[in-house]
Amino acid sequence: MARLDGRVAVVTGAGRGIGASVARALAAHGAAVVVNDLGVALDGTEPDGGPARQVVDGIAASGGTAVANGDDVADHAAAERLVRTAIERFGKLDVLVNVAVSLYSNPEPVRQIVSTGPWDLDKLANLVESTFRPVVEGSGGPWTPRPG
Ligand SMILES: NC(=O)c1ccc[n+]([C@@H]2O[C@H](COP(=O)([O-])OP(=O)(O)OC[C@H]3O[C@@H](n4cnc5c(N)ncnc54)[C@H](O)[C@@H]3O)[C@@H](O)[C@H]2O)c1
Repeated sequence: MARLDGRVAVVTGAGRGIGASVARALAAHGAAVVVNDLGVALDGTEPDGGPARQVVDGIAASGGTAVANGDDVADHAAAERLVRTAIERFGKLDVLVNVAVSLYSNPEPVRQIVSTGPWDLDKLANLVESTFRPVVEGSGGPWTPRPG
């Protein structure tokens, strides 16, 4: 039995580079993996499902379990859809590895943080919350808002 048998993982930005390697490694150890990638070019144009599908095909060819997802993780509703993909296809979500480079598709949240100073923790917390809230809620847990 592989170490991650029965576990379900979402890896964002998994169509290329580091995310693709993480997705392959998790699948090789037995996890069912949702391979998320918007498939954007460096200039943010032309989203394409090809990179995510290629990684899924490679995992399947090696005997692993994976499904492709093309949602934009910089968008709250799309991130929620991503989490729901894991739950609907595999019943739950155990692991989230967030590698996507959202700067490509939506630089605005990061620009807002940087333009008001690198240590604006409130804005950073809001950005993190928009990513993790759907993960917690999608997994059936209650979301506890930050105090204040
Ligand atoms: N490669 C390196 O040497 C290196 C070093 C230090 C840090 N990093 C960081 O690691 C992360 C990954 O780097 P990489 O080299 O694997 O990048 P990469 O460009 O090879 O892959 C990133 C993937 O993210 C996808 N993506 C972009 N925006 C997305 C979005 N909104 N939703 C879903 N998918 C989206 C892209 O389509 C792309 O396939 C980046 O944050 C990068 O800054 C990389």
